[in-house]
Amino acid sequence: MYPLIRNRRLRQNESVRRLVRETIITPDDFLVPLFVVEGKGIKEEIPSMPNYHRMSLDLLHTEVKDLWQMGLCAVLLFVKVPDGLKDNQGTEALNPEGLMQRAIKTVKDACPDMLVMTDVALDPYSSYGHDGIVAAGEILNDETSEVLAEMSVSHAQAGADFVAPSDMMDGRILTIREALEEEGFQNTGIMSYSAKYASAFYGPFRDALDSAPVDIENVPKDKKTYQMDPANRFEAIRETQMDVDEGADIVMVKPGLPYLDIVREIKNEVDVPVAVYQVSGEYAMLKAAAEKGWLDHDTVMMEQLIALKRAGANIVASYFAKDVVRLLG
Ligand code: PBG
Repeated sequence: MYPLIRNRRLRQNESVRRLVRETIITPDDFLVPLFVVEGKGIKEEIPSMPNYHRMSLDLLHTEVKDLWQMGLCAVLLFVKVPDGLKDNQGTEALNPEGLMQRAIKTVKDACPDMLVMTDVALDPYSSYGHDGIVAAGEILNDETSEVLAEMSVSHAQAGADFVAPSDMMDGRILTIREALEEEGFQNTGIMSYSAKYASAFYGPFRDALDSAPVDIENVPKDKKTYQMDPANRFEAIRETQMDVDEGADIVMVKPGLPYLDIVREIKNEVDVPVAVYQVSGEYAMLKAAAEKGWLDHDTVMMEQLIALKRAGANIVASYFAKDVVRLLG
């Protein structure tokens, strides 16, 4: 007796596979992270992120036009702040003429419809490389949230469409939401890094921005007192639910591939769009393996992105965005 049901019927050629495919990648899925530096004519490759660059504002202008032409519609901005401008309070983050504020205007000038999201955290501005203010051996929570709220208003004033707090302080979404409302920015959205783990996959990113935590007496040289323990699942749900209740428009899980279970869990739990951040270490791993000829770059890249969407992500922040769109043709 042969089986009545043969699952292979739906796999026998590419046409039928296309017909029944459940998960499709399109340019609309992507948020493109961009690293901005001071200067002119600068496009420098990040050593631990092959073919990914830091760029000055003039080249950011060109890059954004290219991205838009390719069909990409949203960017996520990060700035590399000169050492001389860093302090413990992140003072430079509030400078209306700061690099981030100018970068936002540059993107909007190049392409008014390009959606601009901005990283909101103190680490690129902190002389200690922490996401918050350091005092008495601690990363201060409420004082940091106040600065993040001011920073968010400053980004909104410069033209940001969404602010993206990546710091993991408690209660900051509400503090930011209230500040935005008070200043008349009721249409500025919040994409919260709601389930952000204390991950070693962020290494290349910290190289890119020179933002790694430094040695300070009595303060651990890691972010484990605010970012989540990779061992925890229920906590991710609690964190995310809390951010939704405080007014987050979009929530995020970060990193991506090692946390697919969390992506699915969050997707089942909340009714706002779920983003996932395929982080710098995930990018570096594939680039390195492909360089050695150990993995096929394009096929593995697509498989990873399909996996992130299949797990429940509606939006993917990825350094592969351009590679993917080129591949899709
Ligand atoms: C900073 C921030 C980090 C990333 C995004 N925002 C690094 C960190 O928390 O140390 C990591 C992104 C990546 O690795 O691609 N708050």
